[in-house]
Amino acid sequence: MQAIELIRKQRNAQPLSTAEIDWLVEQYTREQIPDYQMSAWLMAVCLRGLDARATSDLTLAMARSGLELHVRETISPVVDKHSTGGVGDKVTLAVAPLVAACGIAVGKMTGRGLGHTGGTVDKLESVRGFRSELSREEFMQTLLQHHIVLAGQSPELAPADGKMYALRDVTATVESIPLIAASIMSKKLAIGGSHLLLDVKFGKGAFMKNVEQARELATLMVEIGRAAGIHTVAAITAMEQPLGRAVGNALEMAEAIAILRGEGPADVGYLCYHEAAELLMMTGKAANEQAAEQLVEQAVRSGAAVAKLAEVIAAQGGDARQIEQPELLPTAPVRALLMAPRSGYLAGIQAEQLGLASMRLGAGRFKKGEAIDHRTGFILQAKVGDKLEAGQALVEIHARNEGEAEAVREELLRCFSWSDSPVKPGALIYDVIR
Ligand code: URA
Repeated sequence: MQAIELIRKQRNAQPLSTAEIDWLVEQYTREQIPDYQMSAWLMAVCLRGLDARATSDLTLAMARSGLELHVRETISPVVDKHSTGGVGDKVTLAVAPLVAACGIAVGKMTGRGLGHTGGTVDKLESVRGFRSELSREEFMQTLLQHHIVLAGQSPELAPADGKMYALRDVTATVESIPLIAASIMSKKLAIGGSHLLLDVKFGKGAFMKNVEQARELATLMVEIGRAAGIHTVAAITAMEQPLGRAVGNALEMAEAIAILRGEGPADVGYLCYHEAAELLMMTGKAANEQAAEQLVEQAVRSGAAVAKLAEVIAAQGGDARQIEQPELLPTAPVRALLMAPRSGYLAGIQAEQLGLASMRLGAGRFKKGEAIDHRTGFILQAKVGDKLEAGQALVEIHARNEGEAEAVREELLRCFSWSDSPVKPGALIYDVIR
């Protein structure tokens, strides 16, 4: 086989066979195919597409390119949850301990911030001492002992995806639904959980800008998961305005703790409890929605959910006192208020712009590997639909210094749109693909 023949076939929209896709991925992982040929093939996929069979073959080949954990052979059921990313998305931080507190094991590898969206690992690392880099043995031991593990993405897992993703990032080939599906699902298959809940976000703050794209991606990933023997469900959820009120790492950690105590903002709390309940139904822990909701409520009310978060934090070297007393989490030296420039109803909050503004405060990375400041970000004082008077508090800015807090004000003001008549926020959960 020759890479050039496979590139030509893909360019001419002729489907590659399973054997050809296996060969391409294997040779690329072993550095027998150079980046320029893989880039050409990826661009041909972007332009010509990939059918469901070829996307599934690509996913399997990428999953097999490195370490495979097969966690469901050791403990079952064992669930995994994945969000395609958003602004203020602290859902994993709450759902994972909630589900584990209800008696279902959670084995999760999770990423860092990508573009304007935050990453769960960055949020977890706002806790002093927390270690996200775990060896395979540590991952399995923590899972078996605590029924929950929240690790960073291992470079040994689906290394073909690591290499291809880095290439896509610099060759304008990220925005391809089959390539995104294969990239996400290869890592899920390599972990090998028994149940997977996908949260596919759409809207201004998400990578999928409309619901049709989100549905296509969700359907494809559900098909790939099922074909690989993982019970997979996808929720299609809105990411028009940030989720909850906190944006920024330690601030979101504190908000996740509030959700686990039943004290978080209504929108993100609802999403977390709903996703936890969905996982309990998927695994058969709860027979129906009502029973699942009762289990979740009990875990929150009894304190078991927040105790589970403290347990996994301690198991991974973190200071559990910062979970029990979130006021001990790191705080930014400067807090400044941005006031509403006019009276009216809040009609929209540009999540992507707000995410970028938080990055300028140090909460995210503009370059790969950059250090971040876990303390900085925003607390929204109002959400879409709220009525405000001019001069009322709109955002609390958490910054490293006065200059940075000042510099972000204009950009922040542009994130908000207003209406003179009442505004009803849209539904958060648009559809569930079961
Ligand atoms: N997240 C991934 O893991 N891969 C993609 O391609 C996009 C988002």
